[in-house]
Order: sequence, then structure tokens, then C-alpha cells
Amino acid sequence: MRLVLLGPPGAGKGTQAQMLSEKYGIPHISTGDMLRDAVRKNTNTGQAANAYMLKGELVPDGIVIDIVKERLLASDAKGGFILDGFPRTKKQAESLDGALKKSNMPLDMVLYFNTTDSVSVSRLSGRRVCKSCGANFHIINIPPKAEGRCDYCNGPLIQREDDREITVRNRLEVYKKETSELIDYYKQKGLLRPVLGDLNAEQISLELENMFKQERLLDKV
Ligand code: AP5
Repeated sequence: MRLVLLGPPGAGKGTQAQMLSEKYGIPHISTGDMLRDAVRKNTNTGQAANAYMLKGELVPDGIVIDIVKERLLASDAKGGFILDGFPRTKKQAESLDGALKKSNMPLDMVLYFNTTDSVSVSRLSGRRVCKSCGANFHIINIPPKAEGRCDYCNGPLIQREDDREITVRNRLEVYKKETSELIDYYKQKGLLRPVLGDLNAEQISLELENMFKQERLLDKV
């Protein structure tokens, strides 16, 4: 199963990608996670990306396209993948099309998570992320079992620097300006499937499973 998860910051893409990845054993490929990892390791990519990420701006296409193309060549992506947060510009979408065409791996679906700005802001300002394994929680909606500790590895939970409200608002503007045109791009290709991002995480997960059954995508897992 080859999926793209599209939608504004805080719509729940990463949460569902993680759940789908665990359920179906397909790799979750998040450009945000890969870039944050590069920043932590202080690689050339991380150094080039950091300033953009702190401001909530998009990292230049060339950098992101290269890391995704390389990741898609890894053997675990041959059986399918869940792309979360990529593509985010028309140039990224076109280069993804080109790379997938070359390897004869067409996309099955683009899940478009929609939500309002106010839901995004409240979700992101309450988000806490595990410093050790990157798992996501929310102080009210998806609280960890023990306050401040990760359910999976007991690592400390922290707030992402770009989850401060002023940066979240900029990320939402950047999404509208640079990414939202991909809704029509994928609609025209017949790949877009809207998802009600305001539902709770379990409801969304059920809705996705029904959608996959209806469209016989589970045969591809
Ligand atoms: P990235 O990490 O991709 O951030 P984002 O797209 O802004 O996505 P988020 O993780 O904030 O939102 P999400 O929709 O995944 O929601 P989540 O499930 O986490 O990118 C960060 C930065 O990297 C960008 O700003 C940019 O600089 C750079 N970058 C990344 N990709 C790039 C690209 N392709 N091109 C250029 N630059 C790029 O949930 C959020 C919170 O809500 C969590 O606390 C969660 O627990 C909670 N929650 C989730 N679902 C629900 C639900 N259904 N109900 C209630 N709460 C929920």
C-alpha cells in the first residue's frame, strides 16, 4: 500500500501514519522526523534545514526531495510506504511522481486530513513529543500514562520548538500558500480521499480501515 498523507499542521497525519504503520507493517516516512533527526545529528542537511524549521518555513525543495528519494530506495519501502508531510509543494509532488513512475510504484491514495486553524493550534500547543523515540502525545487528547514520560520507552516528553503558537500560525499560513494547491493536484489524478481530521484518533483509524476495505487496498498489504 502506497499512501501520501496531506493536510495542515496538527490535522493528525503523523498520529494516523504511526497507527497505520504499526497495524499494517508499512514504513512511516515523515520528512519532518527525518529533518529533525538530521538537525539533532548536526549533519549538513540538518544545518541547512534548521533555520527554516524554527521559523515554520518550508525547507528548500532540493534538500527535501533528495532525502525522500534516497529513503524510497531502501528495501523496506519496496513493499509500500506512508509518506507523511511530503510532498508539500507542486515541485515536490512532480518529482515524487517522476521517481515513482521510474520505479513502477504508483500511489494508491492521497489521504487529505482537513481541520480548522483553531483545532490545529490547540492540538499543537498541547502536543508533547518523546525526546528519545519521537512518539507523539497530547496533554489532554492523547495523554501519556505517566505524566511527562513516554508510554513506549519511558523517555522524557518535550514540546517542539515550532509548536509555539506564533510559529504554528506561520506554519498554517505557509500551508495555505504553498501546500494547499496539492489538494486539486491530487483530486485531478483521482487519488484524493478526504478524511475528517476533527474526529478522534480511534474514529479516524476506523474510517480509514473501512475506506481501505471498500477500495480493496488491504489486498496490497
Ligand atoms: P512536520 O513535522 O511534518 O510538521 P507538520 O506537517 O506541520 O505536522 P505536524 O506533525 O505538526 O502535524 P500532524 O498533522 O502530523 O499532526 P499530529 O498527528 O502530529 O514538519 C515540521 C517542519 O519540517 C516544517 O514546518 C518544515 O519546516 C519542515 N518540513 C517537513 N516536511 C517538509 C517538506 N516536505 N518540505 C519542506 N519542509 C518540510 O498531531 C498533532 C497533535 O494532535 C498531537 O499532540 C496528537 O497527539 C494530537 N492529535 C492527533 N490526532 C488527533 C485527533 N484525531 N484528535 C485529537 N488529538 C489528536
